[in-house]
Amino acid sequence: MNHVAMKPIQVGLLGMGTVGLGTWTVLRRNEEEIVRRAGRPIRITRIGTRSLDKARAATQGVAGVHLTHDLESVVQHPDVDIVVELIGGIEPARTLVLQAIAAGKHVVTANKALLAMHGNEIFAAAHARGVMVAFEAAVAGGIPIIKALREGLTANRIEWIAGIINGTSNFILSEMRATGASFESALAEAQARGYAEADPTFDVEGIDAAHKLTIMSAIAFGVPMHFDAAYAEGISKLTREDIRYAEELGYRIKLLAITRRAKAGIELRVHPTLIPTKRLIANVEGAMNAVLVQGDAVGPTLYSGPGAGAEPTASAVIADLVDVTRMHTADPEHRVPHLAFQPDQLSDTPFLPMGEVVTSYYLRLRVLDRPGVLADITRILADRDISIDAMVQKEPPEGEDQTDIILLTHRTVEKRVMDAIAHIEALATVRGKVVRIRLEALN
Ligand code: NDP
Ligand code: HSE
Repeated sequence: MNHVAMKPIQVGLLGMGTVGLGTWTVLRRNEEEIVRRAGRPIRITRIGTRSLDKARAATQGVAGVHLTHDLESVVQHPDVDIVVELIGGIEPARTLVLQAIAAGKHVVTANKALLAMHGNEIFAAAHARGVMVAFEAAVAGGIPIIKALREGLTANRIEWIAGIINGTSNFILSEMRATGASFESALAEAQARGYAEADPTFDVEGIDAAHKLTIMSAIAFGVPMHFDAAYAEGISKLTREDIRYAEELGYRIKLLAITRRAKAGIELRVHPTLIPTKRLIANVEGAMNAVLVQGDAVGPTLYSGPGAGAEPTASAVIADLVDVTRMHTADPEHRVPHLAFQPDQLSDTPFLPMGEVVTSYYLRLRVLDRPGVLADITRILADRDISIDAMVQKEPPEGEDQTDIILLTHRTVEKRVMDAIAHIEALATVRGKVVRIRLEALN
C-alpha cells in the first residue's frame, strides 16, 4: 500500500510558541518516517495563534496551510480531524478543547494545568463523544511516561511514584549548585531556553509539578484528578547554605513530586527533598526529568529524559498524533482508556492531608553556642517520639556565639515534626526560624 497516497490526517494547531513551533519543525523534518509509522500522512493544515509572525516565517513556501487569529474557526473546521492545543493556560484553552470534542475532533494537548484542573470534565466529554484526548507531552516533556504507566505497567499495582518533573526548577537547582549561579540568573536562563511556563511562579513554586503529579496519580491509582488535594512547596526559599550542608551529609536537594498509596489514603505532594546522592535520580541534572515508579510485580523502574524544550516536547506531541492516527478508526470501546482504568471503575480513595504524611526530615537551627542547648532540643524531639538519625554541630565562625545545628530524623508523622519545630523555635537559645526540608531515602 502506498501510505503517502492515502488521504492525510488533517491537524489544526492552536498556538505557535515554543512547543507549537517545535511540533511543526519535527513533523516536517521526519515526515517520511512518521508516515511509515502512522500509516498515512499527518499534515498541519490550519494554525490558529495570536501573533502570526512566527507562524508566517515557519510556514513560508509551504502550500496548503491556513493561518488565522480565529482559533474557534480552526476547532470547528470540517476538514480538521485532530486539534492540537498548545496555547497553554485555562481559558480559552478549556472552551476550545470542549468545542473540539463536541465537534467530534480528537484532541492532543500538552496543557497539564488544564488537565489537572478540568481533566474530569474533559475526559467525561471525550468519552461521551467517543473521541480521544491524548496528553503525553503534559507530563515530563519528552519522556513517554504516560504510555509507560497506562500501558507498559498495566499488570502492576502501582505503590508509589517519585519524580523530578519540572525542568525549570531542576535546571535552577543544578546551576545554583554546580556554577554558583543566583536563583534569578538561572531562572532567566531557563526562560530564555523555553523551559519555563508563561508564569514562571508555576515552575518555582511547585505548582506545575503538582499539575503533572495529579495526572500521574490518577493514572497510577485509578482515581479522578484531584489537584485541590495536592500539596505544593517550591524552591524559591531554598538557600545555598542548605544545598551545601545537604551535600556534606551525602544528599542532593531536588524538587520531588511524590504520590504514594498509603494505608489511610493517597499522598500527593511536591516539595524540595533531600535524596541520597548515590541514587541515580539524585544525579539527574539541568532540564532533564526522571520518574521512578514502584510496581508490585516489576519493582522499581526509572524513566529519564529531557523534561522541557521545543523538540523534546514536540516528540511527545507527535507520538500522540501518530497514536491517534492509528486508532481513530478503531471502535472507542477498544481504545486504551484515557486514564488507564475504565471510566466507570474509578475509586474514591481519599487523599491524605500533609500533616498525616510520614517521611524523614532535615532540620537546621541557628542556636546560641551555650551548654544545654542541644539537650533542650533533643528532649523536645524525644517527647514526640521523633528519633534522630544524624546530627552535625558546626563550629561557630571566629568571634561569633551563634552556630548551626543540623539534624536528620528517622521517618515520622509530619504533624509531630511541625509541633516540635514550634516548641524549638520558642526556646530562648534558638534564633529565628527552623529550616525544615523533607528527606526521602527512595529505597
Ligand atoms: P508559549 O508561550 O511559547 O506559546 C504559546 C502560544 O500560544 C504562542 O504562540 C501564543 O501566542 C499562543 N497563545 C497563547 N494564548 C493565546 C490566546 N488566548 N489566543 C491565541 N493564541 C494564544 O508556550 P509553550 O509553547 O512553552 O507551551 C505551550 C503548552 O505546552 C503549555 O500548556 C505548556 O504548559 C506546555 N508545555 C510546555 C513545555 C515547554 O518546554 N515549553 C513542555 C511541556 C508542556 P503569542 O506568541 O502571541 O503569545
Ligand atoms: N515549565 C515546564 C518545566 C515545561 O519546566 O518542566 C515542561 O512541562
